[in-house]
Amino acid sequence: QKLKLSLEQIEKSGYEHFMLKEIFEQPKSVHDTMRGRLLVEEGVIKMAGIWDHIERFKNANRIIIIACGTSWHAGLIGEYLIEEYARIPVEVEYASEFRYRNPIITDKDVVIAISQSGETADTMAALKLAKEKGAFIYGICNVVDSSIARITDAGSYTHAGPEIGVASTKAFTAQLTILSLIALKLGKHNGNLGNADFMSLIAELDAIPKKIEDVLSSTHELVQNIAKDFVNATNFLYLGRGYNYPAALEGALKLKEISYIHAEGYPAAEMKHGPIALIDENMPIVIIAPKKGHYDKIVSNVQEIKARKGKVIAVVNNGDTQVSEMSDYVIEIPETSECFSPIVASVPLQLLAYYIAVYRGANVDQPRNLAKSVTVE
Ligand code: AGP
Repeated sequence: QKLKLSLEQIEKSGYEHFMLKEIFEQPKSVHDTMRGRLLVEEGVIKMAGIWDHIERFKNANRIIIIACGTSWHAGLIGEYLIEEYARIPVEVEYASEFRYRNPIITDKDVVIAISQSGETADTMAALKLAKEKGAFIYGICNVVDSSIARITDAGSYTHAGPEIGVASTKAFTAQLTILSLIALKLGKHNGNLGNADFMSLIAELDAIPKKIEDVLSSTHELVQNIAKDFVNATNFLYLGRGYNYPAALEGALKLKEISYIHAEGYPAAEMKHGPIALIDENMPIVIIAPKKGHYDKIVSNVQEIKARKGKVIAVVNNGDTQVSEMSDYVIEIPETSECFSPIVASVPLQLLAYYIAVYRGANVDQPRNLAKSVTVE
């Protein structure tokens, strides 16, 4: 009852659904998440939670990221970021698996929990277990003073603001922002990331809110039109490589949870190990193909799909030709560093899921069988 009342009271600012409002808030929420932390002029990333415990991170044998759902997808991208820039081994675990599999944890481990709500039961239980075994626990939460935020040793809040729609959107891109900041900060500090690369990466990260804004205005109408063609689809495949493989998983999760269309995400190269058997003229395939990041490989994946008459919806960089010429639908996004491309590429995928669900008459803010935070096992 309490939740219902507050839902009703909170302004949708003219948007039809909270989800759409939250998708459109992302230029601001990503900016707010960086504010006071990313100081481009000074060439510094300020994060007290990391700095106060820098020795724990520096001496960590490995980092274990624990999360569920969308937050777990953010964790996978965090693994790529931290391993690439800080060269610290990272494992990413589903909290529900981790807590029951008698994992090896020592006091040399750093555990990062990612949770929008900070109340997810499995994530909480996994953290308690890691804490008992002496690991250092770092939280990335959106809800201030939530249960997970309270039991962690340190952490960074994503300043995305309240997320009401059950399907996570702005919390996800804020999580990616924090993970980018952590990876770059650790890499700079431990010497794995040289100053010139660090400076150019932080400038790129600083430019992301503007790029999200551009994507929202340039793709909003286009994506609505694409969505109309897929209202009756029964299956979708989402493919990406490298940093955009988890973005493909996230795109698929968004579609299935709000539109109830079966969707699966895959690393594009895994297609030939099974999913390719599904491809015919009735299979829509969303493929994330920015210029930076295995582009040539993606080109051959698209050729394989088109040879089987699959319908390709490609997310490419502005001005792309090769993938675009082969694709049935093209969504252009601005170029950025490969490591930040999931932040930008996720935005049109959120819109696509949203509009397909709206055209199917689904309750996008409160999809059936789902709760905003899963506080039971
Ligand atoms: C996201 O769209 C989902 N509703 C769900 O997967 C969610 O991300 C998951 O339950 C984890 O929630 P948390 O981030 O609040 O821990």
